[in-house]
Amino acid sequence: MSEPLVLGIESSCDETGVGIVRGTELLAHALSSSMEEHVRFGGIVPEVASRAHLEAMVPTLEQAYAESGVRIQDVDAIAVTSGPGLTGALLVGVAAAKALALAHDKPLYGVNHLAAHVAVDQLEHGRFDGRMAAMLVSGGHTEILLVDDIATDITLLGQTIDDAAGEAFDKVARLLGLPYPGGPHIDRVARDGDGTAYDFPRALTGRDAEKYKYDFSFSGLKSAVARLVQHEERMGRTFNVADVAAAFQDSVCDVLTKKTIAACKDHDVDTLIIGGGVAANARLRHFAEERAAKAGITVRVPRLGLCTDNGAMVAALGAEVVRRGLPPSSLDLPVDSSMP
Ligand code: KG4
Ligand code: ZN
Repeated sequence: MSEPLVLGIESSCDETGVGIVRGTELLAHALSSSMEEHVRFGGIVPEVASRAHLEAMVPTLEQAYAESGVRIQDVDAIAVTSGPGLTGALLVGVAAAKALALAHDKPLYGVNHLAAHVAVDQLEHGRFDGRMAAMLVSGGHTEILLVDDIATDITLLGQTIDDAAGEAFDKVARLLGLPYPGGPHIDRVARDGDGTAYDFPRALTGRDAEKYKYDFSFSGLKSAVARLVQHEERMGRTFNVADVAAAFQDSVCDVLTKKTIAACKDHDVDTLIIGGGVAANARLRHFAEERAAKAGITVRVPRLGLCTDNGAMVAALGAEVVRRGLPPSSLDLPVDSSMP
């Protein structure tokens, strides 16, 4: 079969994304974000996100058609994120995908957002070959996945037991008086800081490491930063924001990469994909590349615009599902906010 032409729709959080791919070739990558509307709330407001998706869906679809020159009549299938994510937000994308599928008599495929974050790397670095591992790090998720087949066989090896990595960045940024979303600000400020100035905890690496081998915890780290900030303020002292940011960032990136590389070694994996917004972090990339090289592991990180939520990743995974001849979803496709 020739490579399938697939349109993908993403609306699980604050980005309305429409992508079009032919197999592993990216043809359109249209995006509209409601992040600016959430900034003053210091976090994503689900109702605001849903409404923004409604307004952005048709213009984003039209942008994707214009970018690619592809007409909806010509696509082989429509893929959409059906979970995990915010229920109201997911519903908008799924309703749009169902409408297109029904109106144009196209097969509909509901796909998993996390698997799509991994699949998108194929658009950048070519088709996957054999077993791989993936580290997904964003504002909503923190997972290590073992990928034997991107469309049919993914195993969750570990995940956060409390805050997501990006969430930890955002919360600590707030403690340090940096704007939301805080990850990029911490990344920037920490460049002038000394990561060894404070000795923040490395959660689930000591006595708990046996039970929580590939799992993460960031809420204790956030509390440690909060205690430090409060203590310094009570003492009437100013602290060096760059040092605190660097030490916090080192703790997160150290644990993330150490456990992920260990998971790769334990499962005989020589390729690691990193996805999600936190993949933009310079320190994380540095640790990952250094440690992976030492272990003989190749790191694949898609360009930043494909790491964060987008429609191309959904189309990329949809194309793999179509290629394998898997059955389409029904037009009753439900959303599943906590899809595993
Ligand atoms: O994947 P994403 O755009 O949206 C989802 O959460 O699904 O990820 C956003 C998260 C935010 O928490 C943001 O602070 C974090 O990624 N982030 C970063 C960096 N850029 C974005 N965290 C650390 N360093 C960065 N450079
Ligand atoms: Zn995501």
